[in-house]
Amino acid sequence: MKKFLIEGGIPLKGEVNLCGAKNSGFKLMIASLYSKEPCIIHNFSKIGDIETTVEMIRELGGEVIFHQNHNLEVSSSNLKNNTFSQEVSLLSRASTYFVGPLLYHFGEAILPIPGGCKIGRRPIDRHLEGLKTLGARIEIKENSCRLWGKLKGTTYRFPKNTHGGTDVMVIAAASAEGRTILENAAAEPEVDDLICFLNKMGAKIKRVEQRTIVIDGVKKFHFAEHSVMPDRNEAVTFACGALSTRGDIFVRQAEPQFLEAFLQAVSKINGGYEIKNGGIRFFYKGDLRPLNIVTRPYPGFMTDWMAIWVILMTQIKGTSIVHETIFENRFAFVSGLQKMGAKIELFNPVVPNPDQIYNFNLEDDKPEYFHAARVIGPTVLHGIKQEITDIRAGASLILACLTAKGKSELEGVEHVDRGYENLDGRLRSLGAKIQRVDL
Ligand code: EPU
Repeated sequence: MKKFLIEGGIPLKGEVNLCGAKNSGFKLMIASLYSKEPCIIHNFSKIGDIETTVEMIRELGGEVIFHQNHNLEVSSSNLKNNTFSQEVSLLSRASTYFVGPLLYHFGEAILPIPGGCKIGRRPIDRHLEGLKTLGARIEIKENSCRLWGKLKGTTYRFPKNTHGGTDVMVIAAASAEGRTILENAAAEPEVDDLICFLNKMGAKIKRVEQRTIVIDGVKKFHFAEHSVMPDRNEAVTFACGALSTRGDIFVRQAEPQFLEAFLQAVSKINGGYEIKNGGIRFFYKGDLRPLNIVTRPYPGFMTDWMAIWVILMTQIKGTSIVHETIFENRFAFVSGLQKMGAKIELFNPVVPNPDQIYNFNLEDDKPEYFHAARVIGPTVLHGIKQEITDIRAGASLILACLTAKGKSELEGVEHVDRGYENLDGRLRSLGAKIQRVDL
């Protein structure tokens, strides 16, 4: 086990490369199981979520071969099992993504319940309802689902946005008989990365409107090669690091068209950014201004950016509000920041139409959960010893420690490694004093 030792107060400066998107790479690996010929995926990142997917594929009998330079090969030719262990399933959200390929190869799939970051209950009712409409028979047991049957094209309207549910339905419908129309489907660019890869494998999938996807099922899939899109969430992490430490970072591969809501917010707070050939430069150019934001599904301000954004708000004079509408319990990281001196009050805004505003199911909400944070700045954060509990909360704590005065110690490094490849090394290359040492 490792921990991070951090000494804050140094402006982050330099250039950094983005890795392949965490929320795309693993699903491409799963989709590639449709093909009998091995598929090649470039630009995957060496993170825990990818290792977990590799473990799942190997438990099914598939093969994953790592080549040099972030390239890997997935082969389904020896698939022999239609299930993997619950232990590995609890480590990520990947479980239900396997429905399509497993029904295609075996006609049956037994999938343990998915795990992942603890930021809400994260039920999979929208995935299962969609799969049922697609013709899957489903038996729910205590910790797993058995699915079987032949999938047939259908029209399914998601009751609320679901990024993962859309991916699961896109993958499954790719091999269903006939045409499937997904309405109110997620518009996240990572869904389009998946669609692009499946089409290269022979699938017939088209996003006909921002939130409508049409899929004509095919029987055969073949070899494909694809490069995972750059990670937008990493781009935002480095951008907020540049602004909160009053630094200047050129984030290579950052793609402005996928970061519009973030760039607008940076402009509004008077943060500096410059779109250049091959990436975006983020820099501190003077006093920052407070801002209220509400997280929304793409193209809105992403929930994944929220915890990282809050650090930046602690450095701004005035009051900023962050209203989280996607997950019902994503403010656990705030107590750590309060211990570092941040002035943050959690509260529940008055919302006239909660079922329309909130993306989670209202029955999953609890009176002890808060949906908004009021950040009163600026504060001089001080170093602290504490534990990381999930990916974005971890990134946020690391940025807080880099922004703070003094030394900090962070345990729970493995949560950050699930979603960021060598984050500490890349921050070091920007001048940060951060060491990974034995516990
Ligand atoms: N929801 C349901 N029922 C469902 C599906 C979702 O109630 O059947 C609820 C969820 O509990 C949540 C909301 O709907 O409150 C949105 O969930 P969504 O399905 O959109 O999220 P996800 O697929 O579980 C992915 C990313 C998250 C990212 C969200 C939003 C992966 C592995 N995870 O989660 O990434 O925040 O989409 O874009 O792709 C992260 O990277 O740190 C992370 C948590």
